[in-house]
Amino acid sequence: MLQAIEISKEYRKGQITTTVLSNINIEINAGEYLMVLGPSGSGKTTLLNILGFLDKPTKGSLHFKGQDICHLSDKERLALRRQEIGYVFKEANLIDELTVSENIELPLLYQKIKKRARTERVKILLGEMNLLHRKKNYPHELSALEQQKVAIARAMVIRPSVIFADEPTGDLNSADGSEILDVLGKINDNGTALILFTHAKSIIGRAQKLVQLFDGHLLLDNVIKQEWN
Ligand SMILES: Nc1ncnc2c1ncn2[C@@H]1O[C@H](COP(=O)(O)OP(=O)(O)OP(=O)(O)O)[C@@H](O)[C@H]1O
Ligand SMILES: [Mg+2]
Repeated sequence: MLQAIEISKEYRKGQITTTVLSNINIEINAGEYLMVLGPSGSGKTTLLNILGFLDKPTKGSLHFKGQDICHLSDKERLALRRQEIGYVFKEANLIDELTVSENIELPLLYQKIKKRARTERVKILLGEMNLLHRKKNYPHELSALEQQKVAIARAMVIRPSVIFADEPTGDLNSADGSEILDVLGKINDNGTALILFTHAKSIIGRAQKLVQLFDGHLLLDNVIKQEWN
């Protein structure tokens, strides 16, 4: 479904060039659960931004469902992202002035989905996340766990083919973090591909596949297959 071929990312500042990612090859199949494990500064967020077409690589190519992403116009890339990809970050990044329901609904407005269908879809997600009683609340009235669940619901509302999650439990205590990983795991069980970026070795058993990132290099070209307990 998604293939990154020989991806590199460099930043130039005057005469100095910093290489943040070097020759990354990754393939993600439909429905897969891949974890990218790497310490702080190893390039996880940079890689997520490129794989999720939020940023362009300096070198290399990216293919998604048969399309060459780097050759699309900005407008085409944005449209594809809004239809196909969900993002979950460390912080929930909800819009303070909108209710829980309105936050979840927002991506559907960009797709010009009719009001009735939007309301139906939001209700289903609120139910799945056990947030129906919170639908009219504002983000500041929610716990950190609830906020992150709303962020996941907002990512899922478009029925994406893939969810990118960047340290999604980074702002949570371990019990809440574990619940978020359960929610994401269930989403993956239902067929959405999940690419989770983390520095936490303790959670790698949850994924089917693992790659390790260190100083912008993938340590293991051969992916480790994990068995579910
Ligand atoms: N815009 C930029 N210009 C220059 N260097 C950058 C830029 N963005 C990131 N970097 C550098 O790239 C490296 C990788 O950063 P990145 O944020 O991708 O790492 P990370 O693995 O996500 O780290 P963390 O776990 O702390 O989030 C770091 O050394 C960082 O300083
Ligand atoms: Mg990061």
